[in-house]
Amino acid sequence: TEHDHPDHPRFDFVVVANRLPVDRVVDGDGNASWRTSPGGLVTALEPVMRETEGAWIGWPGGTVNDIEPFDYNGTWIEPMPLSAQEVEEYYEGFSNDTLWPLYHDVIAPPSYHREWWDSYRTVNQRFAERAAQLAAHGATVWVHDYQLQLVPGILREMRPDVTIGFFNHIPFPAYGIYSQLPWRTQIIRGLLGADVIGFQRAADAGNFQRAVRRLLSYEASGTTITVPTDEDGKVTSGSRNTKRPSGPTRTVVARHYPISIDALAYERLAREPRVQERAAQIRSELGNPRTIMLGVDRLDYTKGIRHRLKAYGELLAEGRLQIEDVSLIQVASPSRERVETYKQLRDEIELTVGRINGDFGTIGHSAISYLHHGYPREEMVALFLAADIVLVTALRDGMNLVAKEYAAVRYDNDGVLVLSEFAGAADELKRALLVNPHDIEGLKDTIMTAVEMPRAERSRRMRAMRKRVMEHDVAVWSRSFLRELSPYQLSRGGTDLL
Ligand code: F6P
Repeated sequence: TEHDHPDHPRFDFVVVANRLPVDRVVDGDGNASWRTSPGGLVTALEPVMRETEGAWIGWPGGTVNDIEPFDYNGTWIEPMPLSAQEVEEYYEGFSNDTLWPLYHDVIAPPSYHREWWDSYRTVNQRFAERAAQLAAHGATVWVHDYQLQLVPGILREMRPDVTIGFFNHIPFPAYGIYSQLPWRTQIIRGLLGADVIGFQRAADAGNFQRAVRRLLSYEASGTTITVPTDEDGKVTSGSRNTKRPSGPTRTVVARHYPISIDALAYERLAREPRVQERAAQIRSELGNPRTIMLGVDRLDYTKGIRHRLKAYGELLAEGRLQIEDVSLIQVASPSRERVETYKQLRDEIELTVGRINGDFGTIGHSAISYLHHGYPREEMVALFLAADIVLVTALRDGMNLVAKEYAAVRYDNDGVLVLSEFAGAADELKRALLVNPHDIEGLKDTIMTAVEMPRAERSRRMRAMRKRVMEHDVAVWSRSFLRELSPYQLSRGGTDLL
């Protein structure tokens, strides 16, 4: 770390993400303190943050705007305030009601509002300026996700000396869908300010490359894109859109780096006697049914919760499943609750859960335990241990870490994962029971296959999935991404982080 002015610390490594790695908790007396967020990105970057004493720029949530930067276990926390209007227009609006549905294959219709775009630009500009202030000469800046796609381009203009990585945590759609976006060219140019643009799946990287070719006619082959620049290496905004540029160019890498989890931490928790006791308690409170199925999702229309409930309800109605033998636990953690599509989804799901419970439940057995809460990791691990089957039926999902968590937890090599082929995790967890969640009959048959699967086959499949997850954990992910940045760091005389 370079401290050239006490008020302006500078860092060799700066993370820029919509959210901070810490959550602000306010106690009964109104005292605020900070606690590490449960997210996977935080654990992924913890070792790098510690070694480099890096900084993290992010929104603290809410609209409190006078939070001073502070040190948190060796990470410099730089809160980026958002006004109430920005929360509405940049976060709930453009990020979560325009880009989110568009990038998830328009499962819900995206809304296009010019005011939201203006707010997105303003907020991205502010994030980029803060990154430029905090980055030491030759530093590495790692920008995350769809909320901040303009940051690499803006930062590249301000700071040609820094190495910039961008990782997109959600899918990148096919050009036929992406091209709906009125600001499609600006977003692509924004991303191309990065040296390395990471995606979850090979298909996402391919979609991005096609968008670059279609919109800008740049040459993209293999994993590299050739971007024409002006003499200082800045992105040209002008018309020099030639396939074989005669002037200076820079090379951008666009490829997939599938994200993962801190797999060993999950396995360790699963081995704790108190967690196993809790799992046994969950089973017995449900009346020790033959089969416990589990769904764990943010309450989001991309997750296919309705499709799952429909299949389950029909299996009960047709008598293929008996209410005494089976129980479905559906954890749906609250998310983006002020966005209209999310409100509607919640109403639909709660109506469906009520109907299924009313139609099939008895005094002793309810069909679905529906929980509209978030839970600490330990409780989730107990649920995974208690579940014979985990249902991941996303209609579109960048990765889906629930699938990987289930595999990490089941060190007993038991349990069946039903996994949507539209989740990024399906590229890696090939021994899951893969399903097309739109095909309700197929989904029902697959659930029955899971219910009836013999122990030996369950074990073979889980063993293969666990091997993949344990060997490709989140540390492997962050290292492979950062390794891709090192030639850029070296060519600029910057700091190699690994
Ligand atoms: O992975 C997609 C993502 O938007 C992350 O950026 C975020 O941490 C998570 O989903 C939860 O969403 P939000 O930050 O909007 O609550």
